[in-house]
Amino acid sequence: MKKIAVIYASKTGTTEMISKEIANSIRDEQTIVDVKNIHNGLPEDVLKGYDGLIIGSSVRMMKVLSEANGFLYKNKEILKTKPVSFFFIGITMKDETPENRLKMMGFVQPTLDRIPDVEPKNIGLFAGVLNIFKFFPFLKIFGIKDAPKDYRDWDKIREWAKAQKALLLNK
Ligand SMILES: Cc1cc2nc3c(=O)[nH]c(=O)nc-3n(C[C@H](O)[C@H](O)[C@H](O)COP(=O)(O)O)c2cc1C
Repeated sequence: MKKIAVIYASKTGTTEMISKEIANSIRDEQTIVDVKNIHNGLPEDVLKGYDGLIIGSSVRMMKVLSEANGFLYKNKEILKTKPVSFFFIGITMKDETPENRLKMMGFVQPTLDRIPDVEPKNIGLFAGVLNIFKFFPFLKIFGIKDAPKDYRDWDKIREWAKAQKALLLNK
């Protein structure tokens, strides 16, 4: 039996849902996949029990969430020794263009620079949800009722997840 953990930071649940979908698409009879919120604190010895890790966070104000930054830095020694893939969620990835990938990598790079010895197998960049009321809550006063727009591409996410499983478990 192999064990993978999908570990995430999420402000409004977008990345949490993505993490659960990643886990569901790679779990099988030979692979236990746990989903864990960074927020709950994960002792180093818990991480040691996994054969591979998939770690994700959303991006806000052009930065990876601070709890994800803290977690990655705190656990950098153990992360050096484990097969790990990262994924990041941002509205910048609404349109998958080379320019947007570069822009998104620009948000994420300071996080990676703080853990230079951790070498992720892969970095997935995916679109999340644009909730206009989170950006401009005052719009509600004007009667604007635009629902949050969900740009998540579930097929792309599931495909990425399966590729990570193979990479992490060396299959
Ligand atoms: C206040 C705020 C700031 C944001 N800043 C960015 C940003 O700088 N770049 C980006 O690509 N997406 C940005 N987003 C979009 C979020 O990444 C997107 O809504 C994501 O789905 C949130 O995921 P979460 O619920 O897991 O935190 C921002 C969203 C909010 C609400």
